[in-house]
Formats: sequence, C-alpha cells, structure tokens
Amino acid sequence: MDMSKSIYLTTAIDYVNGHPHLGHAYEKILTDAIARFAHSCGNPVFFLTGVDEHGQKVQQTAEKRALSPLAYCDELAVVWSQFIEKLGICNNDYVRTTQPRHQKVVSAILNKLYKEGHFYKESYRGFYSAKEETFLTEKDRLPDGSFDPMYGEVTELIEDNYYFKLGEHQQWLIEYIESHPDFIYPESRKNEVLGFLKKEKLEDLCITRPVSRLSWGIPLPFDSEFVTYVWFDALINYMSIAAAHGDLQILKLLDLTPEDFPENGQEQMEIWPPDFQVIGKDIVKFHAVYWPIMLKAIGAPFPKRLIVHGWWQKNNQKMSKSTGNTVDPIAVINEWGLDAFRYYVLRELEVGPDGNWTDSGFETRYQVELANGLGNLVNRSLSMLNRYRDGIVPAKNDELKNETEIIVQNTFKSYQDIKIQGALIKIWELIYRANQYVDQTAPFKLAKQPEQAQRLDEVLYNLVEICRILAVILWPIIPETAEKIYSQLGLNTQPDLWSESFWGKLTPGHKVNKPMPLFPRRDLNKK
Ligand code: ME8
Ligand code: MG
Repeated sequence: MDMSKSIYLTTAIDYVNGHPHLGHAYEKILTDAIARFAHSCGNPVFFLTGVDEHGQKVQQTAEKRALSPLAYCDELAVVWSQFIEKLGICNNDYVRTTQPRHQKVVSAILNKLYKEGHFYKESYRGFYSAKEETFLTEKDRLPDGSFDPMYGEVTELIEDNYYFKLGEHQQWLIEYIESHPDFIYPESRKNEVLGFLKKEKLEDLCITRPVSRLSWGIPLPFDSEFVTYVWFDALINYMSIAAAHGDLQILKLLDLTPEDFPENGQEQMEIWPPDFQVIGKDIVKFHAVYWPIMLKAIGAPFPKRLIVHGWWQKNNQKMSKSTGNTVDPIAVINEWGLDAFRYYVLRELEVGPDGNWTDSGFETRYQVELANGLGNLVNRSLSMLNRYRDGIVPAKNDELKNETEIIVQNTFKSYQDIKIQGALIKIWELIYRANQYVDQTAPFKLAKQPEQAQRLDEVLYNLVEICRILAVILWPIIPETAEKIYSQLGLNTQPDLWSESFWGKLTPGHKVNKPMPLFPRRDLNKK
C-alpha cells in the first residue's frame, strides 16, 4: 500500500429506488472490513459509498407518487444512508448523484471527451425495454420471437443519441488486463472479462437519452436535448468525490479548481486512484470494460484493484420481495446484534463465490462460534482473573506466544490477500486453541491448590493476553465487539491498530474490568 496518499475504497452506489437487502449489506460490510484493515495498518483511508439516483425507473415511480424525482430521491436517500449507519460502516463520504458536486464533474468530463472527439451523434432504430433501460438485440429474443417477460414492455424506437467510440480501445484493454493480473480479482472474473473482450467486438456505448423520453438525468452540457445515460453518470461518482475533496491530480485533468466545490471548503486531499473498488458480479462489464476506457480517454490513472464478490441467495433460491424469499438485514441486526450479522456474512463465503443464507446456518454459527467460542473464552478468562486474582494481570508468560504469533501472521496475510473468510478461519483456530487450553490446564482446579499459584498465574496471563490480541485482529470485522473486549480488559485505547497485536503488551499489575456477555446464548429450541 502506498503511504503518500489515502487508501481509497469504493463500493457500488445502490439504485436509490431499490430496497436495501442482504446483498447490499454484504458489499458494504466487506468493503468496510478491508477499509478498517487498511486503517489498522496505519494508512490514511478514504472510503466512499452512496446512491445512484438517475434513470427511468426513478422518474416513473416519482410520477406515480406525484412527487418530483428529486423529492422522491431525497426521501429514499435518507433510508439508504440510515441503512449504511446501521451496518456500522466507517465511510468518509456519502455520494448522491443528484449533488451539484457530482454533476459538475460529469459535465466537465463530458465536455472534455466531446472536445477531444470521443463522441459522435447517430440515429438508431431498435427495441427498447424501459424496465431494464436498455435496447434489446436479436439475441435477446426467446425461441418464439418474443422478448423475455423480465424486460417488461418492449417498444420499437427510432432515436438520435450520442455514442462513445469504444472500438479503438479494445486491444490495449486486453493487453492491460493481461499485464496487470491484480487488476480484476478474483482470477475467474478476470478470465471472464478477457474471454468476452477477445471473442466479441465492443459496440460503441450510447451515452445519452433524449430528454423527450427521459428527463431525469444530468443534462448534456453541449446539447440540451439530451441527458446523460445513467451508467456513464454513475461510474463517474468515484472520480467526482475525489475532485470535490480537492484532489489536484483530477482537478487539473478536468480544468476545475477547489473553488468549484465551495461546499467542501479548501480541503486538498490526495485520493486518486482508487485502491479497491468493490462490486458485485453482475456489474463487472461496466467496471472492467467501460470504466477503464473512460479513464483512459480522460487521461486518469486506473484503479488498482477491482474486487468482485458473488451474489447471495436465501435457501438456495433467488431473493425476491415478491416471493417473500428475503433476508431483512435490519431485522436480523435488531434481533441478534450488528456484529453477529457482520460476522456471519463474512464467515460464510470467500470473496468470489455466491453465498446462501439459511436461518439455521446463521443461528448455528451464532451459538457455536460466537457464543460458545469467542464469547465464552472472553467471559471465562476475565471471570477467572477477577475471581482468583482480583482482576490484576499477573506476571508475563510466553506459553502460547509462538502459536499465537503464527496465527496472527497468517491472519495478516489473509487480510492482505482479501481472504476475509480465511482470516476468520485462522482467528477461530486461536479461539478454539485457547478454549482447549482452559480445559487442559483446568484453572478452576489449580485455584484450589495453593502450591499451584504460579501455574495459575501463567495460565491466566496467556488467556487474557490472547483475548486482547483477538480484539485487535477481529476489529476490522466486528469492531463493536473488539472495542467491548478492550473496555472489559480495562484498556482505554481502541483495538484499531495492528501494531498492538504483538505478544506481551498487557502489563502485570494492570486491572481489568468485569466481563459482560458479548454474544448471549440463545435457547434456539424456543424459537
Ligand atoms: O447495480 N448479493 O445498483 P444495485 C450480493 N447502481 N450483491 C448484490 C445482490 C445480491 N443478491 N444484489 C445486488 C447498481 N448486489 C448500480 C451500480 S456503480 C457505479 C452503479 C450488489 O442497487 C450489486 O452486485 O442494483 C451491486 O454491486 C450493488 O449490490 C448495488 O446494486
Ligand atoms: Mg442491480
């Protein structure tokens, strides 16, 4: 990681008219864990998320509700930003594509690319799906000649639009992806993009919609009869917010100045380019093909890594509001706690493959791994230290030092490789080892034998020091729990720096507090 600038992380920006669900929550929590790990390593971090507000669907729904599109978006943006808060996300900014700061950058980019000859205007006749906001091709027809009902009503249109020339970009993009194997992660997604680029000729991208058909978009600065296509607008959010925070590299490229963004004061952050752009598998083409081409045309450095996650199902079926097969993250968090939810979604699958939510799987992980695993370890370690030693940390001892250090190092490596599930599996090896250590050394028996006082001291030191280290290495994933562990240990700092994960930081004579259950056990049969 480059220390001279902030580690810049982004998520996809969610369609404001959609409904916040498990998939959205997962993406934000995954990115949050990577952001917190970067922070824990001592890097300045800039983490951006937000909402995507333009397009036909928003315009249509607002009309139905007799609201202006902006009033409708204002309402929904509150729901979405509260959702992000509920998930404990440590974002530094929240972008809405209706904000003037974003629109300014979109206009500047459109003007620049137009002047430099990247666009042309042409007339097109085709079949259009308003529901998917896309023209369909012959390939989209079913065997009987009709279009799939998923496209909703399909109408034939003839219209003028502006197009972005993509053909000239195909070859260098293939070479770029091949020579930058880390650009698209995981590798299977990289291969999918290369496969597509090598097999199919890139069609030029239509970047406008006529105002007569769709007025809810960013006006085209050089032709008032058009608004900008929602994806061209949306992708730019990643750049507009860097500009709005005074990133000189971007401002210069776009011929803008910090004064163009009075709402952000005179801040001058170095943010660009993104270090991690986290997205779901359905929007890879936009981020791995159109986006780098846009950046190349603009002349801006490329994001370092695109992290593509899989999709969640519930009970092996597509989640859908209409069939009621959904997971409501807020209800789960209200019932089980935020960290139980964060833990489960990151533990259940690695970045890449699809996930499958089951209520019983969630409850089992809660009971076995959180309540009986981590919760029980912290609870009994602190209870015994309070009961047998008045909460005073005894002399240092290194019995489990080596085992712990190896696990801490492996966990670090997993986080670095964006193997978050892998990190959790390693951390739980340490939790199981420490619980086993309690069973093997039986401190409750040692406490009854005065001649074993020193042995009891040794065992207690190892246990509380492991609890402390666990707080540090778990902080990126379950920060509230990690902070509770630190506070129960009587430490008044935050466990948010990896450099505190070294063995032996807890000093003899320090007094810990009383334990409080981290994950109360549940009687699952009662439900
Ligand atoms: O695509 N499981 O917005 P969106 C996991 N506005 N992830 C899921 C998911 C699921 N079941 N369903 C959706 C958009 N996602 C655009 C993005 S970015 C410049 C514009 C993920 O609200 C999806 O893959 O449809 C995407 O990354 C994110 O949620 C937002 O999806
Ligand atoms: Mg979607």
